[in-house]
Amino acid sequence: MLEVTGLNQYYGGSHILRDVKLTVPDGKLTVLLGRNGVGKTTLLRCLMGTVQAKSGSIAWRDTPLTKLPTYARVAQGLAYVPQGRDIFPRLTVEENLLVGAASKKAPSKIPDKIYELFPVLKDMRARRGGDLSGGQQQQLAIGRALMSDPQLLILDEPTEGIQPSIIQDIGRTLRQLVEEMGLTVLLVEQYYDFAKAIADSYWVMSRGEIIAGGEGANMDADGVRTLIAV
Ligand SMILES: Nc1ncnc2c1ncn2[C@@H]1O[C@H](COP(=O)(O)OP(=O)(O)OP(=O)(O)O)[C@@H](O)[C@H]1O
Ligand SMILES: [Mg+2]
Repeated sequence: MLEVTGLNQYYGGSHILRDVKLTVPDGKLTVLLGRNGVGKTTLLRCLMGTVQAKSGSIAWRDTPLTKLPTYARVAQGLAYVPQGRDIFPRLTVEENLLVGAASKKAPSKIPDKIYELFPVLKDMRARRGGDLSGGQQQQLAIGRALMSDPQLLILDEPTEGIQPSIIQDIGRTLRQLVEEMGLTVLLVEQYYDFAKAIADSYWVMSRGEIIAGGEGANMDADGVRTLIAV
């Protein structure tokens, strides 16, 4: 599992993450919910090592990650789909996917499983990333993350600004990754109904602190919707 303890992070004088403690069990889909600006993305950046946490520890399957650079965390099996997708608009779909395999030796071919998960990417493989719709770009960003053959897939608000039919597809794909391919998924979300429909377990963050957590099936009973309502 992923184990985070005592994580603290600051931007200047602002205390953004406050003693964050959470676990993400192996082979399950865990959702982290929280309102705008509570520190969700900052936490994910600390997990990936693009921001160095001020204090605390992060371990994946008993390997301490806290002092490792981002590329070494990718080599340990972590992959990241950033908020806003960050695809390369002038590269083709296929080139965008190959960027995700840059840590592997001699990446040249897209594995069939990527195109099976996202048939639209196969149809559009020669098109520029920037020509895709928002939903297609999100699928591309997920496909790119899968190119490093991860064990732990971390996604930051993949439903943001995306049409409902593609949100459904993305939800199904994430469940498929967990159930059929054995991946562990950590998903940051603000869209409650989507989160509830696919979560095995959940955490809620407020002002840099974890304030609740439990089983996905109990989210309604635990009043999670109210905790994240704007
Ligand atoms: N590079 C930065 N420098 C200074 N402050 C920052 C920086 N990045 C984020 N912040 C601030 O830190 C706080 C947490 O931001 P963060 O992006 O982690 O929140 P979030 O929960 O992901 O929000 P959202 O739901 O809008 O994506 C916010 O108050 C934000 O304004
Ligand atoms: Mg964010």
